[in-house]
Amino acid sequence: MADNLITIENLSKGFNGKMILNNLNMSVFRGENLVVFGKSGSGKSVLLKCIIGLMKPDSGKIYVGDRELQKMNSDELNTFRKRTGFLFQGAALYDSMSVRENLAFPLIRNTEMNKQERDKKIINTLDLVSLGEAIDKMPSELSGGMRKRIGLARAIITDPEIMFYDEPTTGLDPITSKEISELIIALQHRLHMTSIVVTHDLICAKIISDRSIFLKDGDIIYNGILADLAGSDDPFLKNFFSDEPIKSGD
Ligand SMILES: Nc1ncnc2c1ncn2[C@@H]1O[C@H](COP(=O)(O)OP(=O)(O)OP(=O)(O)O)[C@@H](O)[C@H]1O
Ligand SMILES: [Mg+2]
Repeated sequence: MADNLITIENLSKGFNGKMILNNLNMSVFRGENLVVFGKSGSGKSVLLKCIIGLMKPDSGKIYVGDRELQKMNSDELNTFRKRTGFLFQGAALYDSMSVRENLAFPLIRNTEMNKQERDKKIINTLDLVSLGEAIDKMPSELSGGMRKRIGLARAIITDPEIMFYDEPTTGLDPITSKEISELIIALQHRLHMTSIVVTHDLICAKIISDRSIFLKDGDIIYNGILADLAGSDDPFLKNFFSDEPIKSGD
């Protein structure tokens, strides 16, 4: 039997009478990198927010392991949150704080570490994203790609078991986008995380994806490997990927 880390059953969520997720069923397997595709507005961010527990579904069940998210008490929910890391769409660093202070933030909130232990962890984590020299810089002194790396460092600094990325490469040039994607996959291997990555970026998806799903009209219309998705005969999918066709073995 597959090792499900997250199992979603009949998840529905709508706003103002319009269904965004409609009886959606899916699983995330332990250790995999799952890429979520879908047109803008198809509910990708809503899906992530429901899984993280930031948004309450209208109906349906979300299990983390064998525990149902909606039935967790606040202690269990806190523990689950501590096991997860997020890189949100457009996630900003705190502009008035240095890189060190930005990275210290989740450690102060989620761990019992003292200042010395925090500093050590911050230095080690900055090394993982190759930005040790940025530790005392302010976000305004960094390039967009560097800010993404720091955002990534902040997201992984608490050693999450599950990482959620919402458009991690949006707004970056293709080379930086590739670098960030490669960094994500390297961290993934090193830290043995399970990752759910929402992206429009095929370069990113090609590097990261073990499995891809495609959201449309509130449900999953594709579940499988990326090469088959991008090479699909389905007119809608063909159109979606027509600008940048991916061939298997590419
Ligand atoms: N808090 C909210 N209140 C009302 N409507 C919302 C809320 N959050 C999302 N929506 C609506 O749900 C739909 C899906 O939004 P979502 O942000 O999940 O799209 P998305 O697939 O992530 O799009 P994009 O690729 O542009 O980020 C949109 O129509 C959006 O307006
Ligand atoms: Mg979104």
